[in-house]
Amino acid sequence: MQKHNGEKYYITTPIYYPSGNPHIGHCYTTTACDSIARYRRMQGYDVMFLTGTDEHGLKIEQKAAELGVTPKQYVDDIVLIFKKLWKFMNINYDRYIRTTDDYHVEAVQKIFKALYDKGYIYKGEYKGKYCTPCESFWTESQLIDGKCPECGREVTEAKEEAYFFKMSPFADRIEKLLTETDYLQPKTRAVELVNNFIKPGLEDLCVSRTSFKWGIPVTFDPDHVVYVWIDALSNYITALGYGNDHYNDYDKFWPADVHMVAKDIMRFHAIIWPAMLMALDLPLPKHLAVHGWITFNGQKMSKSLGNVVDPFILGERYGADAIRYHILREMALGADSSFSNEIMINRINSDLANGLGNLVSRTVAMADKYFGGTLPEEQESGEFDDDLIAQATALTDIVDGFIDKTQINNALAEIFKVVSRANKYIDETTPWILAKDESKKPRLARVLYNLLETIRICSTLLSAFMPTTMPEVWRQIGADETTAVYEKTSEFGVLPANVTVQKGDIIFPRIDVEKEIEELNKIIGSQKEEPKAEKKEKPEGLAMIGIEDFAKIELRAAKILACEPVKKAKKLLKLTLDDGFGERTVASGIAKYYKPDELIGKTVVLVANLKPAVLCGVESNGMILAAVSGDDVKVIFLDGVESGSKIS
Ligand code: MSP
Repeated sequence: MQKHNGEKYYITTPIYYPSGNPHIGHCYTTTACDSIARYRRMQGYDVMFLTGTDEHGLKIEQKAAELGVTPKQYVDDIVLIFKKLWKFMNINYDRYIRTTDDYHVEAVQKIFKALYDKGYIYKGEYKGKYCTPCESFWTESQLIDGKCPECGREVTEAKEEAYFFKMSPFADRIEKLLTETDYLQPKTRAVELVNNFIKPGLEDLCVSRTSFKWGIPVTFDPDHVVYVWIDALSNYITALGYGNDHYNDYDKFWPADVHMVAKDIMRFHAIIWPAMLMALDLPLPKHLAVHGWITFNGQKMSKSLGNVVDPFILGERYGADAIRYHILREMALGADSSFSNEIMINRINSDLANGLGNLVSRTVAMADKYFGGTLPEEQESGEFDDDLIAQATALTDIVDGFIDKTQINNALAEIFKVVSRANKYIDETTPWILAKDESKKPRLARVLYNLLETIRICSTLLSAFMPTTMPEVWRQIGADETTAVYEKTSEFGVLPANVTVQKGDIIFPRIDVEKEIEELNKIIGSQKEEPKAEKKEKPEGLAMIGIEDFAKIELRAAKILACEPVKKAKKLLKLTLDDGFGERTVASGIAKYYKPDELIGKTVVLVANLKPAVLCGVESNGMILAAVSGDDVKVIFLDGVESGSKIS
């Protein structure tokens, strides 16, 4: 147990685009940060937890125009929905920043000017492919089949005057930050960043736009607005009062302890943000925690795909805490988490209703039934006590360790191990048999007391993750603000021996799985119908082969360690694979279907004994298997299979 009285702790979520309603993906990052912030507050830290909205940019300007309102009117409405959701999910942020707030606008203008005055920002010409209807510039590699990736229309060569930010002076320091420090969590992601962005040479970044107006004007050249990412990233310091008089906490809270983001915006936080801070001569944040995506039917949940899960609907059915618990428990740092109604309901039932809920209601009911609610002071220790007490009192140190590494799922798993241990203790000590024998009452009392103490410890730690329901647990087990406190979670024997319990409502009711899944599928699944499979013609003309022919092909599981586009061949991706025996490079024609980010960390099927071939200058040692379905190509992913495993 570590107490940190008065030490500062600063944690941030990304500031979200108010271009549509928030979904369960946004909830994940915000709930994770809220839980860590609550845990840190329990540990005695003086916490600043910041969230907010990123409100400028062409997309917002266009959406507002479509609706016939001003951009500000448009974002004002959506911000209300974000705030309503955070209240509903019991998110206890300390500060909410909107990039349209005057103080932020003023501070960003100062930051831009400071970078210009220091010579890191210069005026140049932006050349690229321009899509007139979308008013957007694209790079060659962003185009799909040479057309606009947004609307699919023709693009033309165009240029516009723009400001650029020199990134190259910081390349070495950034590479060291990513590879030699513990800035990135998990650090394994450093490889892809270094290979994809730093090794090919850090390009100067275009940091102003003249093609739309909804942004922060550059003070010394007002036809230009500041690039949204320079505007947005600055929020982490402007919200503390950097460059403005609105707040005054910069000296106290900067540098941030943790910026938490998903992998889609890792590059901006791992490269551009450190470069900006280096250019401004400011200290760097301590950690960047990068998590994967919540996916639905294997795809990133996103508004444009129409596969979003609405947290309001789920929260109303099962309670915000159950949803918080489910998403926090499912997501492992470094991997994606596939959202499924079935897994959610089963987890709520097994961990919350049967595990914790049952432990609380059984214990309270027995104390009520056998002792009228108040335990006698005469108690007797016995077999199984020491093991339970040892596990319960060791828990806080273990949870602390996982919170330090931002591994919330592991922290929760540890707490629920102790919950299970306590349920097993009931089976071992059989209180209902003890109750039949008057002379065993002191033993029975101690069994129930030990259970109440274990619940006190677990529920106190859990209150950071499920803040709404844990106070009800405390009320039922006779704990209060003097006993359900972090500093007493490593002690046993904190509740008075003659503690009084209060019977109450079931904290997590069991859900009828089949009925609920049917209901939920109606509500959520209906948002996106799976395309109906067309009847395929049986391919003809392929000769039958014997098993000995098939045995000539060596198929093996291989993990994708790194992935990058191939400059000369738009269709190809260059993959670095761990095939269980070493690393090898494979070129695969899947660039149109997958972004490098979506592949890194995944395990695929490798044809391991294919003769090497050189494809567009890349030596390819093998090939990976994928299914061709109509116009789409789906790589075959293996879940939980070790690299090198033979497939037959
Ligand atoms: N405005 C930028 C961030 C600027 S931060 C200086 C932005 N906004 S966003 O609305 O697109 O939010 C992206 C973030 O929302 C992700 O990094 C992640 O934290 C969260 N998520 C959005 N969808 C998600 C999933 N499907 N799964 C997990 N997190 C998701 O990018």
